[in-house]
Amino acid sequence: MNMKVTKAASIRGDIRPPSDKSITHRAYMIASIARGDSVIKNPLRGEDCEATRRCLEQMGLHSEETAPNEIRLKPAREWSQPSTPLDCGNSGTTMRLLSGLIASRDLDCTLIGDDSLSMRPMRRIAAPLQQMGATVEGDTPPLHIKGRNDLTAINYTTPVASAQIKSCVLFAGLRANGTTTVREPSPSRDHTERMLTAAGVHIGHDPSGITVKGGSQPNGFEIDVPADISSAAFFMVAAAMLPESAVIFKDLGVNPLRTGILDVFADAGIPFWLGDESKQLGEPVKHLRVLTAPALRSFRIEGDIVPRLIDEIPVLAVLATQCYGVTEIRDAKELRVKESDRIESIAAGLRAMGAKIETFEDGMAITGPVKLKGTMIEAKGDHRLAMAFAIAGLVAEGTTEIEGAEAIQTSFPNFEKELWRMCIV
Ligand code: S3P
Repeated sequence: MNMKVTKAASIRGDIRPPSDKSITHRAYMIASIARGDSVIKNPLRGEDCEATRRCLEQMGLHSEETAPNEIRLKPAREWSQPSTPLDCGNSGTTMRLLSGLIASRDLDCTLIGDDSLSMRPMRRIAAPLQQMGATVEGDTPPLHIKGRNDLTAINYTTPVASAQIKSCVLFAGLRANGTTTVREPSPSRDHTERMLTAAGVHIGHDPSGITVKGGSQPNGFEIDVPADISSAAFFMVAAAMLPESAVIFKDLGVNPLRTGILDVFADAGIPFWLGDESKQLGEPVKHLRVLTAPALRSFRIEGDIVPRLIDEIPVLAVLATQCYGVTEIRDAKELRVKESDRIESIAAGLRAMGAKIETFEDGMAITGPVKLKGTMIEAKGDHRLAMAFAIAGLVAEGTTEIEGAEAIQTSFPNFEKELWRMCIV
C-alpha cells in the first residue's frame, strides 16, 4: 500500500495518540502470569501487540472483551504446550520477552516471525537463558526453546542497553531458583520493573543491578494504557516544523526513560509544556502541548540518552534536516538491528528527498536546513520509517509517495486518518 503526502501549512488540534506498545505487550504478559484476573483498558490494537496476545492465548491465556476497548484476562493455571509455532509477526518485543516466560516453564516451543524479524539477532537473549539452564537454539528466528521449571538464577550484564534483553531475563528470573540480577551499560526503559512492582513483585535496585527473587508472582491488576510517546513523536516533530502549529497530546506516557525526545526538543529550541501527572500501574502520565519552533537549532544525541529515544531517531533525523547547523547522532549502532537497518534506510530515504546526511557505523550527521523535495520512498517494511517519511513529506515541495505504508499498522493503525484530521493544507 502506498501513502501519498503533500505539503501542509500547519498542524493543529488535540490528539490521543495510540496506546503505548511496550506497556501493552507487558500488560498481556504480566496478566498471563498473574495470581488472578487482570483488566486492560485501551490496549494498543496494532499488529505487534495482537501477536503477543495471540501467542499467550495459544498457551492458555483467556481473554474476553468486557467493554469497548476493555479486555479481561484470565491466566491459565498451567500453561499448555502450543500445538503450532508461535508467530511473533514483526515484533521483536514479543519474541524476546515471551522467550523469558517460556524458558522458565516445562514447554517446548518454536517462535517464528516475518522476514524482518527473521533477520534480527536472538543470541542476545539465548545466551542468558542458556546460562539459566534452558535450551535455546537459533541465532536468528526461528527460535527453538526447551524450557524448564527449575532454572538457576544468574547475575547477568547485558552487552547492550536493551529493555528487551533485561525484561526477558527478569521474566525468567521470576521462576528461577535464587535471585537474578541484571546490569546494563546504560539504563533502558523500565516498564517491566515498574509494572511488576505495581502488581506486587519486589524488584530490587542494587548497586550491582536490578534484582528479582525466584518464586515471585504478580497479582492481577487493572491498567488504562497511556498513549505512546514514540507514536506521538511523529506529530510532535510535525508541530515543531510547520508554521503556526499547536498540538495537545492527551494521556501521554512520560516514563523518564522514554522522554529523551523532550530533552532534544529543549536543545533544538522547540516550545513545549507538560501538564499534571497521574499514574497507571506505576507509569507516569501527562498531557503535552507542542508549538512551532521560532527557529530550529541542530542538536547532538549520544551516550545515555540514546536508549531514552531509540525509536524516535528516524523522525528526529527528519527534524534535523530543518535545523540550522550539523546534527550528530552517535552511539546508536542498535539502529542497525531494528525492524530495518535504520541508519541506512533513513539516510537513503532522506537523501532521495534532498537531505545532506553522512552515515557512520553508529549513527549519522545531518546538515540543515535543506528544502526537501517529494519523491517515491521505500519504507523497507519498517513502520517508524514509513511514518517518519510521511512527516518529511509535510514540509517537502511536491508529493512524497511512501511505498510499503501498510507497515504502519504494527504500531499506529489510524496514523493517516489522524494526520489528515489535524493538518491544514
Ligand atoms: C522495546 C525496547 C526497545 C525498542 C522497542 C521496544 C521494549 O528495544 O526499540 O521498540 O518494549 O522493550 P531494545 O530494548 O532492544 O533496544
